[in-house]
Amino acid sequence: MSNGIIHSNGNGVPAKSSGPVIPVASRLKDGRALAEDVWSIYNVANLPADCINLGQGYMNFAPPAWVKKAADEALEDVSANHYSHPKGRMRLRKAIKNQYGPLLNRDLDVESEILVTSGANEGMYSVFTAFLNDGDEVIMFEPFFDQYLPSIVFNSGKCVYVPLHPPSESKEGATSNDWTIDLEEVRRAITPRTRMIIVNTPHNPVGKVFTREELEGIAALAKEFNFLVLSDEVYDCLVYDGKEHVRIATFPDMWERTISVYSAGKSFAATGWRVGWLIGPKTLIAPTLAACTRIVFCSNSPLQEAVAGGLEQVKTRHFFETQVKEYEERRDILCAAFDKLGMKYALPQGSYFVLLDISEVVWPDDYNFPKSLDGRGRDFKACWFIAMEVGVSSIPVSEFYCAEHCSIGERFARFAFCKDNETLKKASERLQNLGKYLRKTE
Ligand SMILES: Cc1ncc(COP(=O)(O)O)c(C=O)c1O
Repeated sequence: MSNGIIHSNGNGVPAKSSGPVIPVASRLKDGRALAEDVWSIYNVANLPADCINLGQGYMNFAPPAWVKKAADEALEDVSANHYSHPKGRMRLRKAIKNQYGPLLNRDLDVESEILVTSGANEGMYSVFTAFLNDGDEVIMFEPFFDQYLPSIVFNSGKCVYVPLHPPSESKEGATSNDWTIDLEEVRRAITPRTRMIIVNTPHNPVGKVFTREELEGIAALAKEFNFLVLSDEVYDCLVYDGKEHVRIATFPDMWERTISVYSAGKSFAATGWRVGWLIGPKTLIAPTLAACTRIVFCSNSPLQEAVAGGLEQVKTRHFFETQVKEYEERRDILCAAFDKLGMKYALPQGSYFVLLDISEVVWPDDYNFPKSLDGRGRDFKACWFIAMEVGVSSIPVSEFYCAEHCSIGERFARFAFCKDNETLKKASERLQNLGKYLRKTE
């Protein structure tokens, strides 16, 4: 008997194919979700057991005790163990209003201008769901935070890449701000399908803190061509040497077209808590809330309470000021090791990564690299070699580029300094062993 729907070869036997029984959606491949990614190649399981992990960007220390205490208290509260409002818990939205209102020069409306999300990642995913139609284009600077690409592709968008320009190889004493943007290149990347630009400041992995002038240039283009700015500011509390963190949403006529993105994971050393938030005008937050509600419904409740408790206390405890000093110390320990080796890097002014120029690192021609590195950039081999021979892991930067621009990233390895001083000192000692593998310059 037929119901008119053909599921088989006609004999009641399912049709055979050579592929998997259930084929996966093509978006997984297009979104680079199936390729062996950098995180699996440099996974601790593949590296020597005592390798010091400066590859992944999470801390090896706990959130502050008083923030953890707020988490414990939340678990004792019945309501904080259940669903929250999809907009986020009122206590957290109020704490965000108090902390960010003055920074954005606005009296933020907790009902319509703040959205708590399951980390910054899910917040940005919801923005893409809310604003991208099939084939809409999103401009991003390279190197880019690797989660942008799959999130855009999964939402039928198209990534358009504009590289940041690294400092010239001969430049001594470079800082992350010697990585520059070319606004003409951004202009050339704009098409009638451009819907959005992602600006990540302070930047992962470069550590660049975009200047007011650079952001003004981007803002002018966003207004001229009418697109949205997704301002990924998850490292806004980690800006060094007295540099100013400029918020593009505060520029004239930019509030209407900007969603700013923040992360408790970065601000309170709690990356596994998965609490982040978006701030923007009602016209942008309402559609994002609609998407977010249908993706996760709401974010985890007790840790929202804990983050609220954290934000409520940061001023009296001078927490962010102290934390910045601690991170500057961590950065300086690691960079001193590179100085001692005479290796080049751009001193990061924000976030917690240093890009080391690894073009002088050489290894024997017959060195045994795993198959997973075949066809990848030179930096993949360099990072593997450094992890195996020196015992410190890092991440190859070409992973954060599109195929055409991959050669720009091949010159660099990313080292994360969100680790305690003792670990960084130990890593610095080990890194000195890299000296014998550096190309001799006359
Ligand atoms: C630039 C950037 N944006 C967003 C995120 C994601 O933040 P969250 O952990 O809050 O999802 C990260 C995390 O590494 C990041 O580096």
